[in-house]
Amino acid sequence: MDMSPLAPSKLALVPFVSVANMMRLVNEIGPEQVMRDLAAYIEEDFRRWPDFDKTPRVASHSAEGVIELMPTADAENYGFKYVNGHPTNGRTGHQTVTAFGVLSSVATGYPLLLTEMTLLTALRTAATSALVGKYLAPKGAKVMGMIGNGAQCEFQALAFRAICGIDALRLYDIDPAATEKAARNLTAQGFTVTKCRSGEEAVEGAQIITTCTADKQYATILTDNMVGSGVHINAIGGDCPGKTELHRDILTRSDIFVEYPPQTRIEGEIQQLDEDHPVTELWRVMRGEAEGRRDAKQITLFDSVGFAIEDFSALRYIHDRVRGSEYAEMLDLLADPDDPRDLFGMLTRAG
Ligand SMILES: NC(=O)c1ccc[n+]([C@@H]2O[C@H](COP(=O)([O-])OP(=O)(O)OC[C@H]3O[C@@H](n4cnc5c(N)ncnc54)[C@H](O)[C@@H]3O)[C@@H](O)[C@H]2O)c1
Repeated sequence: MDMSPLAPSKLALVPFVSVANMMRLVNEIGPEQVMRDLAAYIEEDFRRWPDFDKTPRVASHSAEGVIELMPTADAENYGFKYVNGHPTNGRTGHQTVTAFGVLSSVATGYPLLLTEMTLLTALRTAATSALVGKYLAPKGAKVMGMIGNGAQCEFQALAFRAICGIDALRLYDIDPAATEKAARNLTAQGFTVTKCRSGEEAVEGAQIITTCTADKQYATILTDNMVGSGVHINAIGGDCPGKTELHRDILTRSDIFVEYPPQTRIEGEIQQLDEDHPVTELWRVMRGEAEGRRDAKQITLFDSVGFAIEDFSALRYIHDRVRGSEYAEMLDLLADPDDPRDLFGMLTRAG
């Protein structure tokens, strides 16, 4: 035992999951199983939606991108994620999206977990999409068109296989190198992959269309003529004011499903519509209080922006998995004086 005056006490220590340990943990369980598990945690939390304190995320915008804080809490735990979105980061070797997060005890306010969330965000975003797909995608869907083949792409594909049974993918990205990368990774994972030269080609014959591009503008990744009746659209990349992916006409033909309307109205595809345009909250669908897919002709749209409860569920899952395991390192994060009121006395120990 370290007896030095600076040695941390038990209450000072917070379990920390590094990127390396997250990679090891996810590979040990298997990414598809992790996303099945995450979907189950997310579904459980969506079904108890009224239990949570909710607020649209707190966003700090700049010309280059956005930095966001995403907090939520139930009676027992508080969670938040720090996340950025910088579409041109790739040019300098940085990720578009990075994240980390904290789960705390409401009773003491002490953190229970600090974890990397860059990998975890990709996993939880894909798990949420596929969970929503379970309620909204046409039955028996096998083919997914994927426009935008960057960091999130493979996670989405694996989650849709694990949860919805997708086995064929049609990939398109304006950067052919991104499509090459995704095709290589996904072929190795056993998918039937078609590399496409346009968005139009990518959506041909697809029952599910995933848009997962990054660009800080009102983009038109899908035009109205590209969307036939009966498809499910999983729109991931339009998630900030002034950053959308779908032509407005698609929205008016679709039944739109959202996470938390006060946030989605600011950030989602529906920022293009009137403030009172009807949308359905997914938690109500999951509780059986609202209808999901009604018929085979309906176009369903998940206007995904990513909501704090999904991160809370992911934090809860990781906390459950790593507790007392080798995947959690103990960090000396919280000052813990012998006498709680003698914080200054503790400081002088290092003098
Ligand atoms: N909804 C959510 O919960 C959620 C979560 C995480 C990320 N996101 C968003 O998802 C998007 C993708 O994230 P990422 O980490 O994969 O980014 P990324 O930068 O790694 O990949 C984006 C890809 O989109 C491609 N692209 C850009 N414009 C295009 C266009 N017009 N047509 C076709 N392809 C185009 C780029 O070439 C790139 O390969 C981002 O906008 C991000 O903000 C949403």
